[in-house]
Order: sequence, then structure tokens, then C-alpha cells
Amino acid sequence: MARIPLVAGNWKMNFDHLEATYFVQKLAWLLRDAKFDYKRCQIALMPAFTALRSVQVLVEADNLRIGYGAQSVSVTSQGAFTGDVSADMLAQLGCRYVIVGHSERRKYHPEDDANIVDQVRAVLTAGMQPILCVGESFEERRQGIELEFAVSQVNDVTRDLSKEDMDHLIVAYEPVWAIGTGMVATPHTAQDAAQAIRAHVREGFGQAASDRVRILYGGSVTSKNAAQMIAQPDVDGFLVGGASLDAEEFSRIARLT
Ligand code: G3P
Repeated sequence: MARIPLVAGNWKMNFDHLEATYFVQKLAWLLRDAKFDYKRCQIALMPAFTALRSVQVLVEADNLRIGYGAQSVSVTSQGAFTGDVSADMLAQLGCRYVIVGHSERRKYHPEDDANIVDQVRAVLTAGMQPILCVGESFEERRQGIELEFAVSQVNDVTRDLSKEDMDHLIVAYEPVWAIGTGMVATPHTAQDAAQAIRAHVREGFGQAASDRVRILYGGSVTSKNAAQMIAQPDVDGFLVGGASLDAEEFSRIARLT
């Protein structure tokens, strides 16, 4: 079964709403000029919350084929939760995706597999697609348990999901040691992890679910390594950090995918 690749840019805490709007417009022009085929590869941008409305206005006004979403979400729906942003609020802004469980959220916020499950459920209930981030640190890799670790993170979050839920889940394998370091994983490493995750989905949800689930790679992706990475049979796209902050570079990665 052919899975449509997804190239998503995680802007993290970069770009105000004006910079975000300009970026989206520039990216749309670059992809138009390159005659980019959005049916062959999907594009998504994940701005900070403060830029989402501006991105929505531009995408809808110009009918752009660029998806967008948020980098995190609260598990609560509404009420006295100062500083939180609910999945429904994100869906109202046209968000299609929400990153959940990013290693930087797990590191700097009290987020672990238990509440990430609740985030996934909130995103699914609001009609959006969770992009579940998993991946080992240097320590797990040193111990040689990187595959078991990534699979256990997927299992902890998905074991109680339904098959229908799994149809909407996207997994991003992001080895922590490759994030922001320039030390991109080898294509073989990415393939091994994606293959192990897909095998686990097959065990838990069946062949059709494992054929459908998209597994992205994230961690120092650039236009120099994207082609070899996407050539791996179980790698279905990218979650790009630093390289997604440059429209030309991000469009090059998309065109190579
Ligand atoms: O979510 C993607 C991000 O963590 C990867 O960052 O800068 O290594 O591409 P970067």
C-alpha cells in the first residue's frame, strides 16, 4: 500500500505571527514555482500557538495546500486551566496535526507516556491527527536497547487505542541524540526503528493498520540527507526542526521526498 509522505516543519519557539505568515507565503510560492505535486507529498507547518490564526487566515484566503498544526496540546477541554490550550481550540483554528510527546516537552514539562495518551485522545476526539514523537537517548543506544525503547514508547501510548484511532496516528521516530545536533541518524538506523515500530503496530492492530501508519524520521534532517532517508521502505517522511526555518531549504527537502 502506498503511503503519502508527509514533510512537517516543527518551528519550535521561533517566528512571530508576521514572520510565520511571510514564511508560509514564500514557501507556497517556492513550491508553486517548482510545480510541487501535493498529491505526491503532504506539507505541514507547526508554528507557535501565537501564529496559528495568522497562518489559518493566509492558508484559507489563498486556498493553500499547506497543512498546519500545533506543537503541543492540553489534555483539559476548558475551564480554570491557566495557560492551557485545548484541542478544540486548535481544531477551531483549522489545525490538522498536533505534535505530542516531543522529547523537548518530555524534558522541560511534566509530560510522560501517561499524559501523552490523554493528549493523543484529546487530539483524536477533536478530529486532528497526533504526531507521536518517540526515540532513544544516547544512553539507550549505548545499551543497545534503542529499538525496544522506541517500541515501548509507542506501545505505552497506543495499546488502548482502537484500530480507528490508529488510522489517524502518525509516529515520528526522533532519536534524542540527533535533535539539533547535526548528528543525523544513518538511513539504516532510521529504517530499523521504523521497521520495528511498524512491526509492533502489525502485532497490535493488524496488517492493514501497519500498512497505513505513517512513520516519520526527525533529527537533523536537511536537503543533504533527505533523499537517502526517504529511500528507506518504512520511512514515510520527516519532522524537520532547524532546516524548516529556511523556506528554500524546507522546500528542497519537500521536493526530495
Ligand atoms: O521535531 C523535529 C525536531 O525535533 C528535529 O530538530 O533541528 O534536529 O531538525 P532538528
